[in-house]
Amino acid sequence: MRRIHLFDTTLRDGEQAPGASLNPEQKIVIAKQLAQLGVDIIEPGFPISSPGDFMAVQRISREVQGVEICGFARSVKEDIDAAVRATEAAERRRLHLFLSSSNIHLDFQLRKSREQVIQIARSMVAYAKRFVDRIEFSPMDATRTGDEFLFEIIEAVIAEGATIINIPDTVGYALPEEYGALFTRVMKNVRGSSQVEFSAHCHNDLGLAVANSLAAIRAGVTQVEVTVNGVGERAGNCSLEELAMAIETRKEALGAETGIRTEHIYSVSQKVSRAMSFPIAFNKPVVGRNAFQHEAGIHQDGLLKNRNTYEIMDPDRLGIPRSMIILGKHSGRHAIKHRVSQFGMELTDDQMEVLYTRFKELADQQKIVQDHQLMGLVGSTVNAVLEPYTLVHAQVLTGTTGHRMASCTITNNATGEQRICSGTGEAPVEALVAGMRQVLPIQVEFDDLELYSLSSGEEASGEAIVTVKAGGKSYRGVSEHRDVLMAVAQAFMAACNQAVREQGAFSETTEGVSAAGH
Ligand code: KIV
Ligand code: ZN
Repeated sequence: MRRIHLFDTTLRDGEQAPGASLNPEQKIVIAKQLAQLGVDIIEPGFPISSPGDFMAVQRISREVQGVEICGFARSVKEDIDAAVRATEAAERRRLHLFLSSSNIHLDFQLRKSREQVIQIARSMVAYAKRFVDRIEFSPMDATRTGDEFLFEIIEAVIAEGATIINIPDTVGYALPEEYGALFTRVMKNVRGSSQVEFSAHCHNDLGLAVANSLAAIRAGVTQVEVTVNGVGERAGNCSLEELAMAIETRKEALGAETGIRTEHIYSVSQKVSRAMSFPIAFNKPVVGRNAFQHEAGIHQDGLLKNRNTYEIMDPDRLGIPRSMIILGKHSGRHAIKHRVSQFGMELTDDQMEVLYTRFKELADQQKIVQDHQLMGLVGSTVNAVLEPYTLVHAQVLTGTTGHRMASCTITNNATGEQRICSGTGEAPVEALVAGMRQVLPIQVEFDDLELYSLSSGEEASGEAIVTVKAGGKSYRGVSEHRDVLMAVAQAFMAACNQAVREQGAFSETTEGVSAAGH
């Protein structure tokens, strides 16, 4: 197996995505998680670009161990000086210099001749080499440069001491076979190429960044530059999790492996998405919310018999906490029965038939049947109340200033008692949660909230996914509502109900249903 080094540029190229900028504290937290994830090199920013970025690179160099830190610089002395200073404390470091090489960049952006560009590349690599031994050089827009000049500039920087040659597909133009073949030609024809490492850096304008990176690996590169969630300029960069999982899943075919600890993939992806306010598409491979969810009855049936029937990766190994079965109008009896049994219940065949009919009626009216709705259906089928609490009413007073206030009415289904509770907070969700918590018999921590808009226009409805923690375990509740605050309140209630049930703080008023395990 060839070991492929993953060079993470989430905090530099990724951060160049519009609206994705991070403050130094956020960068430090993410850099530590990247190190734990097992990336080999981190490019934490562009030191000359701002005092904040300088400070972030400097602190990451001091505080993050076990990875090589890369100081990014244009091929100018001031940038190199800043990158040298910012990375001084790193355990291991390299400098990364770039300079445009394509005619279109030279003519319209740099306004320099090829001779001038070669001269700058030579002198700046030689200058950087005075301070740091490991020098990476990137001829920007390499894939639109043409062999002759590309070979010339790469040969020149190798002669001056560059140790890593990165060939960026800056505008995401290359096709996989072209990109692979370009590396093969460079490695064959450029003098000094056997002494250096080669690196791929792909943008995703045509959705080919991962495919191009794999083609480069096949051609012999030992480093690939990636970003978490594929964030980056325009359509982004090669996605770390997609590439890592392609290599992991097809390692025999590729003869390659990475140092990624897959169990951290999902949490890092979530953290980066939140910190950058950059949502992940539902159907994004590996980390999208639908990536391991199945609604079709035939698929659900197959999965319940053997996960491998419709899944090529195990979400548990990626640290993905979600359930694989989504109940909707395509779901069959097998999946519904399975979900009911996950709540510790077994229904007779007759009860199952009644439930199935009611389920299909509800599923026809909405996209997904949530767990608390299923529990309601099971309850009405067996004439029992299975949910510990029902949120009967909630009202929130919100505005632009002052504290937000919420009042809620919640029924304790075991005793029939109704309680009205109220809470305040700096934001409406905080006020709602403060109020609702008062009725709960156990300590529940509000851990996470995901909010999605499910439609457009004034009638748009929102979906809330709330995760709570109780007794060292996580519980998720999902709800959809035209009033997003109601969606949050119901999702919170659903998550708390699971926690209360599982922590044994509720005895069901159950008739005619056998509560397995209770
Ligand atoms: O896309 C690109 O060309 C880059 C280089 C500066 C490496 O990000
Ligand atoms: Zn780039």
